Amino acid sequence: MKQVIFDTDIGIDDAMALLFLHYAPDVSIRAIVTGFGNASIEHTTRNALHMKERFDIDAPVYRGAAGPLGDALGEGYPDFVHGQNGLGDIDVPDPAGAPDKRNAAQAIVDIVRESPGQVSIVAVGRMTNVAEALTLEPELPALVGELIVMGGAFGFNGHRGNVSPVAEANIAGDPLAADIVFSCGMPTTIVGLDVTNETVMSAAYIDGLRDDAGAAGEFLHAISRYYLAFNQRSTGRFECSTHDPSAVAYLLNPDLFETRDAAVRVVSEGIAIGQTIWSAPNPNYFTTAWKDIPACKICTGVDSEALLDLYRGTLLLAMQ
Ligand code: BDR
Ligand code: CA
Repeated sequence: MKQVIFDTDIGIDDAMALLFLHYAPDVSIRAIVTGFGNASIEHTTRNALHMKERFDIDAPVYRGAAGPLGDALGEGYPDFVHGQNGLGDIDVPDPAGAPDKRNAAQAIVDIVRESPGQVSIVAVGRMTNVAEALTLEPELPALVGELIVMGGAFGFNGHRGNVSPVAEANIAGDPLAADIVFSCGMPTTIVGLDVTNETVMSAAYIDGLRDDAGAAGEFLHAISRYYLAFNQRSTGRFECSTHDPSAVAYLLNPDLFETRDAAVRVVSEGIAIGQTIWSAPNPNYFTTAWKDIPACKICTGVDSEALLDLYRGTLLLAMQ
């Protein structure tokens, strides 16, 4: 059984990822930890509680970071992508429950201390909660089984940034936190735009989920209208990239991806703020910025068709 902490700024594609985790066999969600990002911390925490109650997800919700550790690119929240409430402005009733009293960073520390080496963190928002957990527990890299991050853009497969020519939203939203996390030696896999933009959910694919995956499919269809409309305004196509569910797909079946190992640093100021840059050792470089930084795994390729099949197959398990 894979034990998972889901660190999320729920968010339309975050909601898609959470249902993927929830219906995956052999996954136990130990915690849903929230952060600011696609919407305010109030909205993302509310969305987490709503999904927990709506889909009977047996995991506590911990409220996390309300803002970045350092400078970030841009201000406010991307309501033009995820809606004012983060879930495409569908009606989200007030949840009956409340988040746990512990904050997200402390919950991460407590859970991995309880089960050292056994817990995966799937982080699909800003890296702020994980960076704060590292401050609380410097041994965190040795305690976490693996960290799988949706974030970054390295230029593989021709994909560049989505909030600047070089920066991806999760990383640009707290570049300092991402730099701390990617440099700390935690076993980390980065699932960036290089692969998430390669896997596209068409309108027909999402219609199929609505028709065949019961309440989960209907919910995903409803929240995704806003997301697809945003994409249509940007690219002319009524479809969406598969961002956060790709991080879950890596957890469930890493063989769907090609990867390379490399030290990764994040630019934390200036016009390239939020850029993720990998480096191989090179004795001729004048810079020492990547020297002695433990390697992360970067996803460079993906079997998109198999990933979409895995997603649909898992959601359909909701019907059993
Ligand atoms: C990432 O940013 C957010 O909008 C999505 O939820 C995803 O985590 C994609 O750049
Ligand atoms: Ca997200």
